[in-house]
Amino acid sequence: MATYLELPTRGRMPILGLGTWQALQGTARDAVKFAIDVGYRHFDCAYMYQNESEIGDALRQKMEEGVVRREELFIVSKLWSTFHERSLVKEVCQKTLAALQLDYLDLYLMHCPMGFKAMEELVDVGMVKAIGVSNFNHKQMGRLLGKPGLRHKPANNQIESHPCLPQEELIKFCQSKGISVTAYCPLGAPNWPGSKPDHISLFDDPQIKEIALKHNKTPAQVLIRLQIQRNVSVIPKSVTPQHIEENFKVFDFELTEEEMETLLGFKKRYRICALSECKNHKDYPFSED
Ligand SMILES: NC(=O)c1ccc[n+]([C@@H]2O[C@H](COP(=O)([O-])OP(=O)(O)OC[C@H]3O[C@@H](n4cnc5c(N)ncnc54)[C@H](OP(=O)(O)O)[C@@H]3O)[C@@H](O)[C@H]2O)c1
Repeated sequence: MATYLELPTRGRMPILGLGTWQALQGTARDAVKFAIDVGYRHFDCAYMYQNESEIGDALRQKMEEGVVRREELFIVSKLWSTFHERSLVKEVCQKTLAALQLDYLDLYLMHCPMGFKAMEELVDVGMVKAIGVSNFNHKQMGRLLGKPGLRHKPANNQIESHPCLPQEELIKFCQSKGISVTAYCPLGAPNWPGSKPDHISLFDDPQIKEIALKHNKTPAQVLIRLQIQRNVSVIPKSVTPQHIEENFKVFDFELTEEEMETLLGFKKRYRICALSECKNHKDYPFSED
């Protein structure tokens, strides 16, 4: 089983990364340092998460200690929706680079599909190796790919996915176009602020627990493995050393076809990250849910 996904840019994205949203100031630095020691090389960051400078400190320290080299790391960040104006894109990307103490990003994503303007120049000037998108639905992906004069195809679409939102069609569509997919909220985001009362705890789900027990693994490991086995990159967030370590031990077991079907066949369906504050925007991506 590959531990990297090949990008259309020929870059290689480690299939498992560390999510950093809600890695609050004061916890992000240690979490990233610990994760590098455990073996994580892919870090999912964003300007919006307000912790990029701490993450930058951790990366710098580990590189200075000689634990890891820049070219071994795969650093993702995201352009927040208020900076889509062409004149702002470069400036805010520069801010992210300065905070992360890096010369370039491996992948820069448009955080939400509200008004697409080219980020292509960032690739041209070497500030980022690849560009991609996040929260784009099927139609928006199709429209973007059909844009006349598109010079740099999106390398990745980062979307919510877990058993209650398997996203099979969108994933197959992206993969058929050579676009890699990353799953966020892979554990069902157990501590999501304001989560709905009908959302279930995937860790307590009897079917997931049974599969975990069979493999002598935890429900979290099963949920991460589910994405890896369908060639989807996965970025569970954790600042807890025991979890960071546990979430990385997913390359020594394999889910059966039947187990994959069970995990992708949940009747209960919902979206955790509904971006409801953007509901009235013309490009709101989840109206069809
Ligand atoms: N593009 C977007 O719009 C978007 C939206 C949402 C998220 N994301 C990205 O995706 C990442 C992951 O999503 P998420 O953070 O929302 O949800 P998640 O990864 O599904 O869940 C994270 C939660 O699970 C806990 N956890 C982690 N490992 C665990 C384990 N082994 N056992 C028990 N609990 C465990 C974490 O607590 P501890 O920290 O205490 O371990 C944290 O509260 C984010 O951090 C962010 O980087 C992107």
